[in-house]
Amino acid sequence: MVNVIDTRCIAARTPASFRSVKTVNAGGGMSQESMSGQRVVVLGGMSGLGLAAAKAAASVGARVVVASSRAQSVSAATAQITASAGVEGCVVNLADEANIEDFFSSIGRFDHLVYTAGEAIRLGELDTVDLDAARNYFGVRVWGAYAAVKHAHSRINSGGSIVLTTGIASRRPLAGWSLGAMICSAIEGLTRALAVELRPLRVNAVCPGVVRTPLWREMSEGDRAAMYRGLGELLPVGYVGEADDVAEAYLFLMRERYASGHVLVVDGGAVLV
Ligand SMILES: NC(=O)c1ccc[n+]([C@@H]2O[C@H](COP(=O)([O-])OP(=O)(O)OC[C@H]3O[C@@H](n4cnc5c(N)ncnc54)[C@H](OP(=O)(O)O)[C@@H]3O)[C@@H](O)[C@H]2O)c1
Repeated sequence: MVNVIDTRCIAARTPASFRSVKTVNAGGGMSQESMSGQRVVVLGGMSGLGLAAAKAAASVGARVVVASSRAQSVSAATAQITASAGVEGCVVNLADEANIEDFFSSIGRFDHLVYTAGEAIRLGELDTVDLDAARNYFGVRVWGAYAAVKHAHSRINSGGSIVLTTGIASRRPLAGWSLGAMICSAIEGLTRALAVELRPLRVNAVCPGVVRTPLWREMSEGDRAAMYRGLGELLPVGYVGEADDVAEAYLFLMRERYASGHVLVVDGGAVLV
C-alpha cells in the first residue's frame, strides 16, 4: 500500500540565477573543482552524515536537495544549510518504492545522489534477534538504497555519481553486530556491482566508523558518552569523529572522476585496533 507521505519539496532559498565556475583540475586526477552549477540530492540529509555532506556540497557551490521521511525535520535541516545556489527540502519515505519513484519523477535531473538514510541502530546477539524485525532492518538501508538507485540513475547527468553509505561493521564486527555486518556487506557488494552495471555512471560508498550523530539516539546518554569515551581512547586518532569529519569523503567521491566501485573507509583507524 502506498503510504500517505507526499514528495513535495520546499525551495528554502533559491537564488535568482546560477553562476557557472570554471574547474581547476590537479593533474587530471582528483578534481579540486567548485560544484557550482551542480545539483546534489541527499537522501537522509536531515541529520548526521547526510546533513554534513549536504552542507559540505553547498559550501562548494552545489545546489542541494535534502530529503527524509519526517516533514517536521525538513525546514529545521534546510535552515542549517548555507547554500548560495539554493536548498530544497523534501519529504520521502525510503521504505516505500512507489514513494521513491514519485520523488524522483518530481524533482527533475541532477548530478549526484548521496544516500545516507537509515533508522536508529539495532544491535543484538544472534539468539536474541527476532527475524521479522531483522528483515525490516534492511528496509531503508539496503532496499531503500537499491530502489533509490533504480529510480534515480537515469535522471543523473553525464559526469555525475552515486555515493552510498556502508560502515566498518562488515570489516571489524563486534559481538552483537551481525545484522549491521550483513547490511554493510550488502551495500559494499551493491556498490561494486552497480559500478559495473551502470557505467559510465560512477558508484561509490563511504564507510564510516563510529561517528557522533543522532544514529545513536536510542542509547542512554550515559551509555553513549561511555561508548564515545572508550572508543576515543582506543582509536589511533584519539577521538570519536563528528559528522563533519566524514563529509569530505562524500565530496571526494562526488568529485573524483576516476573513482568507481570504491568503498572509502573513514573510521579514525578503527579497523586497525
Ligand atoms: N553515525 C555512525 O556512527 C555511523 C557509522 C557507520 C555507518 N553509519 C551509517 O550511515 C548512515 C547514516 O547514519 P547517520 O549517523 O547520519 O544517521 P542519522 O543521523 O540517524 O540520519 C539518518 C537519516 O535517515 C533518515 N531516514 C530514516 N528513515 C527514513 C525513511 N524511511 N525515509 C527517509 N529517510 C529516512 C532520517 O530522517 P527522518 O527520521 O526524518 O526520516 C535521517 O535524516 C546509516 O546507514 C548508518 O548506519 C553511521
